Amino acid sequence: MRTYILSAVLILLLVISIFTIPNLSKQTTYRDSEQQGLDEQITIHFSHVVAENTPKGRTALYFKELVEEKSGGQIHVELYPNGMLYNDENEMTALQHNDVQMIAPTYSKISNDVPEWGVLDLPFLFENETDVTRVLSSEVGDTLRQALEKQGIHGLGFWQNGFKQMIAKDAPVQTLADFKSKRMRTMASNVLAMQAKLLGATPQAVSFDEVNSVISKEAIDVQENTLSNIYSKSFYKEEPYITRSNHGILGYGVLMNQRFWDSLSTESKGIITLSMQEASAWNEKIARKMNMDDEQRMKAYGTHFYTLSTHEKARWKRTLQPLYHEFQQKDYRDILDAIERQLHQKTPTSSQ
Ligand code: LMR
Repeated sequence: MRTYILSAVLILLLVISIFTIPNLSKQTTYRDSEQQGLDEQITIHFSHVVAENTPKGRTALYFKELVEEKSGGQIHVELYPNGMLYNDENEMTALQHNDVQMIAPTYSKISNDVPEWGVLDLPFLFENETDVTRVLSSEVGDTLRQALEKQGIHGLGFWQNGFKQMIAKDAPVQTLADFKSKRMRTMASNVLAMQAKLLGATPQAVSFDEVNSVISKEAIDVQENTLSNIYSKSFYKEEPYITRSNHGILGYGVLMNQRFWDSLSTESKGIITLSMQEASAWNEKIARKMNMDDEQRMKAYGTHFYTLSTHEKARWKRTLQPLYHEFQQKDYRDILDAIERQLHQKTPTSSQ
């Protein structure tokens, strides 16, 4: 009798539960106006060509953390460092086709598609990193971003690496005569190709992921790069002579596919913009520190460091002056004037 009553109670409870507990599989995800529902999960694929432990690599990781934290995971950033997805030669096309949503090429590489950016490659244009940030935070940065839009690219921000130094295989580069008959690796850039020629070398545009290969084949004699790039790619092991010339800066445009940017909600755009601002401020400090730390590591390894003399620096500046004249002939020469105004705190006269 007891078993009978227990069975009847269990059956009754089962019947009641079927008609009261909602079917979880069919439950829709409720989202109120503030919350972004899981159904709007956004993934940004961000490809770049350097190692993770570099100024750009570390800043990309910090940007990812900021975006994912501020969006509560609703926006996911997938990083592809070291050229593992796209390299110098194909990353810009991949971005324009939205095969990848973000890249961060150097100003030099951007200048192949957006020539205005070549102004940042002009030698000895900047004396220190603070001036670089100040100029890019001014109307100059706005002009450079507007120039991207013609190519279907949205400029999110600017990240720094640092000043470029000369690094050589057989002997230090200290005078202009040391460039004679030398094959010089450059990033793909008209300004940098002309710079190498004016110095007396033969330029060879080589994709960053191919530089160690051409060094091992003894196909280049000298190159320019920042200390953190020289260290992170171990260039110093085959090219033991570094001349601290500070003859140019190496920085990045952080770029997003324009159509992808336009497709984002106002809230997502705000999260990405704020994350970019915080990451960029952090980048300036980390870049300076990493370049100094990497210099100490290379000195400890036995790399030979030289400093360009004041006299020789003046000779290099005179020799490279035609690059400025060349740029002044362009129909976007105003950008150079704007930079020089910023640098010399000149305010435009009423006639301008
Ligand atoms: C180079 O090609 O030397 C640099 O663009 C690498 C980088 O992106 O910093």
